[in-house]
Amino acid sequence: MRFDVITLFPELFAPFLAAGVTRRAYESGQVDVRLWNLRDFAEGNYRRVDDRPFGGGPGMVMLAEPLARCLAAVKADRGDDAPVVLFSPVGPRLDHAGVEGWSASAGAILLCGRYEGVDQRFIDTHVDVQLSLGDFVLSGGEVAAMALLDAVARLQPGVLNDAGSHQEDSFNPAVDGLLDCPHYTRPEEWNGLKVPEELLSGHHARIDAWRRRQRLALTARHRPDLIAAARSAGRLTRADEEFLAGL
Ligand SMILES: C[S@@+](CC[C@H](N)C(=O)[O-])C[C@H]1O[C@@H](n2cnc3c(N)ncnc32)[C@H](O)[C@@H]1O
Repeated sequence: MRFDVITLFPELFAPFLAAGVTRRAYESGQVDVRLWNLRDFAEGNYRRVDDRPFGGGPGMVMLAEPLARCLAAVKADRGDDAPVVLFSPVGPRLDHAGVEGWSASAGAILLCGRYEGVDQRFIDTHVDVQLSLGDFVLSGGEVAAMALLDAVARLQPGVLNDAGSHQEDSFNPAVDGLLDCPHYTRPEEWNGLKVPEELLSGHHARIDAWRRRQRLALTARHRPDLIAAARSAGRLTRADEEFLAGL
């Protein structure tokens, strides 16, 4: 799978691509990330990529022409019809289902906005999908692009040290779509606080039952919408329902 990132700040990606468990996926090309510096496609001595907004007001707007030139170069290099994704508060919020979709795809061309945003005519004519990271404003799309690349990379086979590890993570509809349970590690007692005894019992069925109840309780408390979704998808057992009713 290949992701081409169009950005004014390619240098932001170097440390990100070189760190953590996902590094293997990027270095092996399992998730092939190519960076394109938009400024290389700007013209004139100043290599302008932005200009003042028509109608006045604060800030600058990204010019359509360098974006179109850069995108044409990316598309020619890829030779496929990968979707063009613009990170923007306009789009639907990225979620687990979206990440799973991208992680099973051939990739995409990711466009990182800056300033007040992108000339709307470019969006109307060249962008296929808009994606938001959440209801807040970032200074640029780079952090959103990294969030997508990271989430996609960790779903690739062999990337996580323990193959089952992401199965148990939050939001996984293949399991239950609920939040993950709490985790504890050594020491058994820290600042007077003990690890729940079930986890020390060495009894797998007891540990699994405790984790299941914790997932249910945590999700009911923090994300009741996920409980409702799991219920309507038939992912809750009668024992789950009895436990939830007793909370
Ligand atoms: C300063 S923001 C522009 C914000 C825009 N004027 C607005 O109020 O919606 C610059 C760029 O950051 C990116 N960005 C900002 N917030 C984002 C979010 N919540 N999700 C994804 N990208 C975002 C977009 O690419 C945007 O073009």
